[in-house]
Amino acid sequence: MKIINSVSELRNEIKSLKASKGGLKDVKTGLVPTMGALHGGHLSLIEKCRSENEIVVVSVFVNPTQFGPNEDYDKYPRTLEADSKLCEKAGVDFVFAPSPRDIYDEYYFTHKETTLICPPYDVVNKLCGKSRPGHFDGVCTIVGKLFNITKCDRAYFGKKDAQQLFIIKKMVKELNFDIEIIGCPIVREKDGLAMSSRNTYLSNDARKLALNISRGLYKAKELAQKGVKEADTLIDTALAYMGGLDVEYTEIVSVDTFEKIDIIEQGPCKALMLVAARVESNGSKVRLIDNIDL
Ligand code: PAJ
Repeated sequence: MKIINSVSELRNEIKSLKASKGGLKDVKTGLVPTMGALHGGHLSLIEKCRSENEIVVVSVFVNPTQFGPNEDYDKYPRTLEADSKLCEKAGVDFVFAPSPRDIYDEYYFTHKETTLICPPYDVVNKLCGKSRPGHFDGVCTIVGKLFNITKCDRAYFGKKDAQQLFIIKKMVKELNFDIEIIGCPIVREKDGLAMSSRNTYLSNDARKLALNISRGLYKAKELAQKGVKEADTLIDTALAYMGGLDVEYTEIVSVDTFEKIDIIEQGPCKALMLVAARVESNGSKVRLIDNIDL
């Protein structure tokens, strides 16, 4: 496994590994984009990618363009050494760990602007995008750049970030990227808490409170399976578990359109209940997201 910082070096390395694996056509490259602080959720993506592709690239890059001015860009956990060990164990070929200057042009640092991929307003300015203006433009921009840099055939994303997955699929379709996007199930701790790099911010007490997010979601699913179809009732059921949390939104959307729905349809995976909530931990608020199909 090689750890690579520069775009040109990664391109050359992928090219020569492809050639050594017997020609440029049938050798598939899989990409797992991450911001590092790898956990079981990331590893499930990496394992799937390893099982389906000849070449596996994992990017580890805390992307400045997707963080707002008052967000946790500076304190986001950076654990490249541990991440690299996990990648090595998982059989990754290349860990791409660039610095912001390896990725963004000098113009970005002098003018605080760069060429962005901006999905339609209504898609990016609801749910997570409502409290994080510009976030999904930054996500699409870095993901688009990683697609161009790696020339990957497949890319793997977690359903934990359901809106992100929806937006990336839309970007790929609308910008004609010749890449298959693979959505992977949410990986949870034994007690149900969705794994997240931001869980490292949680004190013991905060972690107990955070667990109420998945508890609420599971309770709502239980009710939906018993035949309750009204979104408001299901949302109130979930919210009843989330006292002590500062809930930013709880919504039920169609998994196909991400439009809000009032009455859930029958059948698997039609409706998703999504939650974002902040939990107080060591004097600051930690923002967590989770979702469940009803
Ligand atoms: P990051 O939060 O590091 O997540 C990287 C990938 O891991 C995402 O596709 C995310 O959905 C997935 N993931 C995180 N926790 C998961 C869990 N518990 N179960 C399954 N998958 C999980 O998402 C980002 O980074 C960035 O926005 C990125 C796409 C890399 C662009 O910068």
